[in-house]
Amino acid sequence: MNYGYFDEKAREYVITNPNTPAPWANYLGSPDYGAIVTVNAGGYSFVKSGAAGRILRYTFNQFDEPGRYIYLRDEETGDFWSASWKPVAKPLDTYKSECHHGTSYTEIISEYNGIRSRVLYYVPMGATHEVWRVSLENLTDRERKISVFGYCEFTTESLYTQDLVNLQYTQFITKTEFHDTFLLEQINEFNYPRPDGTTGRERFFGLAGAKVASYTGRREQFLGRSRFDKPQAVVDGKCDNSLNYNGNPCGALQFSAALKPGEKTTAAFLLGQKTVFEAKEIVDRYAQTAETVDKELQELIAYWHGELANLKITTPDKNFDTMVNTWNAFQCFITFVWSRAASLMYCGERNGYGYRDTVQDIQGIMHLDPELARQQLTFMLSAQVHHGAGLPLVKFTHNAGHEDTPEQDSYVKATGHPSYRADDALWLFPTVYKYIAETGNTAYLDEEIPFADKDVGTVREHLKRAINFSMTHLGPHGMPAGLHADWNDCLQLGAKGESTFVAFQLYYALIIMKEFCANEPEYVKYLDETAENLLKILNEQCFEGDRFIRGFREDGVVIGSKKDNEANMWLNPQSWAVISRGATAEQAEAILNTACEKLNTPYGLEVMQPSYRYEYFEGARMRLFNPGTKENGGIFCQPQGWAILAEALCGHGNRAFQYFQESSPASFNDDADRRVIEPYVHGQFIEGHESPFAGRSHVHWLTGTASTVMVGCVEGILGLRPTPAGIEISPAIPQEWDGFTMEKVFRGKKLHITVDNSAHKEGKPAKVILNGVERAAGVIPADELREENDITVVM
Ligand code: GLC
Repeated sequence: MNYGYFDEKAREYVITNPNTPAPWANYLGSPDYGAIVTVNAGGYSFVKSGAAGRILRYTFNQFDEPGRYIYLRDEETGDFWSASWKPVAKPLDTYKSECHHGTSYTEIISEYNGIRSRVLYYVPMGATHEVWRVSLENLTDRERKISVFGYCEFTTESLYTQDLVNLQYTQFITKTEFHDTFLLEQINEFNYPRPDGTTGRERFFGLAGAKVASYTGRREQFLGRSRFDKPQAVVDGKCDNSLNYNGNPCGALQFSAALKPGEKTTAAFLLGQKTVFEAKEIVDRYAQTAETVDKELQELIAYWHGELANLKITTPDKNFDTMVNTWNAFQCFITFVWSRAASLMYCGERNGYGYRDTVQDIQGIMHLDPELARQQLTFMLSAQVHHGAGLPLVKFTHNAGHEDTPEQDSYVKATGHPSYRADDALWLFPTVYKYIAETGNTAYLDEEIPFADKDVGTVREHLKRAINFSMTHLGPHGMPAGLHADWNDCLQLGAKGESTFVAFQLYYALIIMKEFCANEPEYVKYLDETAENLLKILNEQCFEGDRFIRGFREDGVVIGSKKDNEANMWLNPQSWAVISRGATAEQAEAILNTACEKLNTPYGLEVMQPSYRYEYFEGARMRLFNPGTKENGGIFCQPQGWAILAEALCGHGNRAFQYFQESSPASFNDDADRRVIEPYVHGQFIEGHESPFAGRSHVHWLTGTASTVMVGCVEGILGLRPTPAGIEISPAIPQEWDGFTMEKVFRGKKLHITVDNSAHKEGKPAKVILNGVERAAGVIPADELREENDITVVM
């Protein structure tokens, strides 16, 4: 069953049946003022923190309520409905609904009873308030009188948990006021007011473009004894002009529209955490409602479509195009900006950036906006401790050079993280490499950046110390110790257990560093010897002919041997053996074949198999999950990106694309009830074959899947592989494709790329024609590129 379609031209996903299997959501604004809005207008808003700056109430994991509701009432008949299908939920045979989720805006269009409504939700560029524009059109041939009620449910205070549970306090600190065009919520009104009498904690809900006909700031009065599907004020046709004093605040404003046949009208509800003066100024700014909103929407679209413009592909597979061009790319920006701050799964409790997550997220936007990526990369380098490890959690208030670390109680108390993870700082290597390769800015390596606690060093020095951290935390076999976790948060191997995944990451880091330190022969020698030794250990201790094991427990027992009954085959060591360039061609063939055979399912590759049930060990925390779920044998989606990349690097285009398709959200568009979450965004994992719900996906939007699958598609399948010297274009595509085209901006130059696959190969192109001149496949030096380039890649 499908609930909507991709409109690639508008870069929208259009939901035509609002009765979706889960609240399909979109992101508006930024964490400075963030808003999540669903197909039925559910969701919440916050300032800076979803947990500590919450403005709108939302009940997680329930009925997608409350939301940014707009009720419409026919004043002649008393019949009422909502501008989103729910909360009133008129029968869908009489109510038409279209929800257009776009790049940071959502428009919900409904048609009922001869009235068309178009409600546009957005946060203007750089602003910290939100707009709900309401346009109504009379589609009938008689005059209609329609009442419009806008409703939002304020929290009683900014800490969302306090709002929900500490009622003996929170109910008694808030009141509402009415100021002609808006309602204002006061919180702790007399606590440290500023000279102008405001506190900075006020929220407002205003109306522009129409006159307020009635209002209430009391939820109890708006709803009466009913729920959101039948609010008393809407039943009655007016609010009672009451205000809240002790109790539940809300914003409810009514206006009336008289519409001649064919006539349209536009007004806007406005919302934010603003003082009385700011609120008035904002409402006044929207007096010319339609014009102001149009202008702001155009600005938003221009910004976002501009961010997505550096790569545009046209392949035989429309779902692939829409994911790469729009949805996966937009999701990468959302994870880049929002980290794991707030979604319908994350309540906003994480008070900082996870190290690995963030360094990975940066990779997802590298091909689109490398300079924006660099800013965050520099920030993450400044969160590296002087000994080279990454801080497990980088506080939002991070103050480089002055931070405490997991060695200190104060850090542990503030963050809850007592120890380092083996992999965190190793993600810097591919990320720094990708930045330098995309931009050619090798001088970045000499840029000085402070460490988190003390010392300052160049980027190169930061990377050296990261290697040093790994090399001073080795286990008995000479491989990196697993410490608190490697990529897998559920694998706690401690100071003596060892991780093959991290060993391959370290090997890759050593290879990358050779290129970054070419002028330091002594250091290069060290890197060479270390890499050679590490590879020898990996081959001698960890290779079982058809797979690499996952590592060693603290007591030396092997994890992931083919002799084991459970968890005998793991995906990441195989993909990373290839990505790191550690595996020989022969090994690569063998291990990728085993991965396909033992782990692949119709919905992607399971992270390991069989799931732990009985034969686990203390550090295998994934045993807590049901088999086939998350790290316990689920189809963890981030590793799909690595599998795609590994297959593509081997020139296995058929399999790379197959893996993309199996787990791609868009592939589930016509089987949306199976996947449950949005067919336009990646989730953290998909349930595996051991679950009765194989194919169901979870933890939407904020997940490392976005960046990793993006890299798998861009570097892997499309084969766009920048290097410091230039760019290699080496697609790995389904054999049946005749070819495809790409428009790519690389270092400010335009590349018009045509891939000619009349030979019907799946990888490893034969030659390249650059501006009419034939050359061997391989890196095209950047200095041979013109402002505009015609490039044909002949497979
Ligand atoms: C979650 C975490 C991520 C971790 C992964 C695997 O996605 O956010 O940091 O690598 O799980 O455990």
